[in-house]
Amino acid sequence: EKGMYPHYMLKEIEEQPNVVRKILQAYENEKGELAIDAEILQAVNYADRLYIIAAGTSYHAGLVGKYYFEKITGIPVEVHISSEFGYNMPLLSKKPLFLFITQSGETADSRQVLVKTKALGYPTITVTNVAGSTLSREADYTLLLHAGPEIAVASTKAYTAQVAVLALFAYVAAKDSGKTVDFDLKKELGIVANAIQTLVDSKEEMEKIAHEFLEVSRNAFYIGRNLDFYVSLEGALKLKEISYIQAEGFAGGELKHGTIALIEEGTPVFSLVTQKAVSLNIRGNVKEVVARGANPCILSMEGMEEEGDRYVLPKVHPYLTPLVAIIPLQLISYYAALQRDCDVDKPRNLAKSVTVE
Ligand code: M6R
Repeated sequence: EKGMYPHYMLKEIEEQPNVVRKILQAYENEKGELAIDAEILQAVNYADRLYIIAAGTSYHAGLVGKYYFEKITGIPVEVHISSEFGYNMPLLSKKPLFLFITQSGETADSRQVLVKTKALGYPTITVTNVAGSTLSREADYTLLLHAGPEIAVASTKAYTAQVAVLALFAYVAAKDSGKTVDFDLKKELGIVANAIQTLVDSKEEMEKIAHEFLEVSRNAFYIGRNLDFYVSLEGALKLKEISYIQAEGFAGGELKHGTIALIEEGTPVFSLVTQKAVSLNIRGNVKEVVARGANPCILSMEGMEEEGDRYVLPKVHPYLTPLVAIIPLQLISYYAALQRDCDVDKPRNLAKSVTVE
């Protein structure tokens, strides 16, 4: 029930601090350490490459997941859009492990890949929010998201749950294989939960941003580099699906290779600055669009902020910034949709789970 909330989407956005805490509890062993089923870890350790298969928001979470497995666990990962993979399968490694990311566990595009990979005899894991869903039943192993039912068509808390579970999975797999990991994920995710709470508590500020930047715009751009690029893709998808404003997410450096031609006087450009190693580069990209008349909305991480940034995100571990950077983007989309009298929970032309290929 949405209770006192005007929309499920807002309720689900606000549940996110607790979703992160719930995941920490769900994946804790008797010793209070983060843990994952031993058979699943064995499957990861045996594999020479992970293939992440997903659609939409889950694909965006998968991109972040690739980063985690490559950086923390040290295993190569490919991320594929499920509707493409099934009909144009890449050459596979010798010992592939398939990881299906799906909130509903019912997405037909992802299921057809599961059916094909199983027929080829490859091991499969489903990361889903719905125990007993089709992809969960059909895969060898399941990891649950523990986000609670997600009703709004636009995925919010399932995305943060996917990113958190993938971080946890990569972290536990790394430790299991004897790799040294130089941070305490449990502690860092606790900090993330508090940071998300701070952002949710500042929702009036996001409403103002929606008003300032998206009241009359026909389009909007989202830019970032590294992890911020992946969050830009997800931020743009959120805006498109519920406000119908044309939006695109881009890697900051890619704009000048074509898209910058679309920048006009007043075009909103949401720019994420959470990654220290590329902060100068992304700020350079912001200057490029500003020189062409763009209206930049810079969201930077505490410690990296500069004068003129529109919002400063509470500081979290550099790997975990997607979990906080997405929150204002979800809220901005929500308020932009309200401003346009859109049906926030049930946007036109969309279904919660897409059960046709
Ligand atoms: O249930 P799934 O995670 O497999 O769904 C995949 C996409 O259909 C889904 O993420 C879709 O993009 C959402 N409406 C995004 O908000």
